[in-house]
Amino acid sequence: MERTPFGTAPGGQPVEVYTLTNKRGIEARVTNYGGIILGLRVPDRDGRFDDVVLGYDALADYLVETPYFGALIGRYGNRIARGRFTLDGQPYTLATNNGVNHLHGGLEGFDKVVWTAEPFENEQGMGLVLTYVSPDGEEGYPGTLSAKVTYTLTGDDALVFDYHATTDKATPVNLTQHSYFNLAGDGKGDILGHVVTLNADRFVPIDPTSIPLGGLRDVTGTPFDFRRPTPIGARIRQDDEQLRNGQGYDHSFVLNQERAGALSLAAHVLEPTTGRVMEIHTTEPGMQFYSGNFLDGTLKGKKGAVYHHRFGFAMETQHLPDSPNQPDFPSTILRPGEHYHSRSVYRFSVSGR
Ligand code: BGC
Repeated sequence: MERTPFGTAPGGQPVEVYTLTNKRGIEARVTNYGGIILGLRVPDRDGRFDDVVLGYDALADYLVETPYFGALIGRYGNRIARGRFTLDGQPYTLATNNGVNHLHGGLEGFDKVVWTAEPFENEQGMGLVLTYVSPDGEEGYPGTLSAKVTYTLTGDDALVFDYHATTDKATPVNLTQHSYFNLAGDGKGDILGHVVTLNADRFVPIDPTSIPLGGLRDVTGTPFDFRRPTPIGARIRQDDEQLRNGQGYDHSFVLNQERAGALSLAAHVLEPTTGRVMEIHTTEPGMQFYSGNFLDGTLKGKKGAVYHHRFGFAMETQHLPDSPNQPDFPSTILRPGEHYHSRSVYRFSVSGR
C-alpha cells in the first residue's frame, strides 16, 4: 500500500494519504485526517476509470471549509435537536453548529481529528484500521469513547466500513461515512439522472430545521417512494412539504430489514450514461439520502471542479436522526461493557446498455 505525506494538521500531527488498490484497478485514497476518502476510481461499462467522489486536492482546503466531503462522522451522524438530550436522568448539552442544532458530532467532530492509521492486507483485500479515543466531555458528550473503524477495499470491488466502539460512560454513538458520490465522475454535472432504488417503506419526516417531527411516514404515494428504480430528479421539484423542508432529499429512510441488525440491502444506484452501479448493504436501520441541496457553486474541488447545486449525493447508513430525544426510534445509546459494531458495504459494478 502506498503511503504519502499530505501535510500537517492544526494540532501539528503529520497527515498522510494511503492508497488502497485491488486487482481490478479500483483505487481508494484515504487520509488519516477525519478518515476522509479523498478519491475513488472505478471503471465504467467500457472500462474507463473515473473518480466518483467529491473532495479537494489539498489538506488546506479541508481545513478551511468542507461540507463533510468523504468524512468519517462521529460521535453522532446527523442532528440532535438543540444539542440537548437527557440520559439516565442527567441532562447533557452538546456543541451546536447547525443553527440551534448539533450536526455530525459538533464543531470538531470525528471528521476533524487525526486518526491513528494501521494499514493491513488480508484474504478479503487491503485496508486501514483507524482508531481514535474521544475524551470524556468532547463536544459535550459523556464518557471516553474508543472508536475503531476499518475501511477495506475488497477483491470483489466493495468498500467495506466496520465501525466499532466502546465507552466508559453511557453515550450516544452513531458513526457513518459522508462521501458525496457522482457516478458520472466528479464535477461532471448534477446527479439528478442517477436512478435510485431504496429498500425503504418509510422515512423520517422533518421540520424546516431538519429535526424529526416524531413518528415515521409511509412512502406510498409520495416523492419518497424509491421502491422502484427512479431518477433522483424525477420528483425532486414537486410541491411537497417534506421536499421543501429538506430543500430536496435530505431525509432518513427507514430500511426494510429481515431482522434488526441483519446486513440488508439499502440502496441501488445506477448512473445510466456510464453504466456505473453502486449497491449498498448495511446493518444499520436507516440511511440519510442527501441530494447535495446545499452545494451552490462556491466550493472549488479537485482538478478545478466546481460543485454546483446537486453535483453530488450522499447515502449515509446510520441510525435515525435525533434518536436520543426520540423514544420510539431504535436506541443509539452505548453503555460500558457493550460493544458497538456496525457494518456497511458499498459495492461498485457496471450495468450494460
Ligand atoms: C445532512 C445535511 C447537511 C449535509 C452536509 C447531511 O448528512 O443531512 O442536512 O447539509 O450532511 O453537512
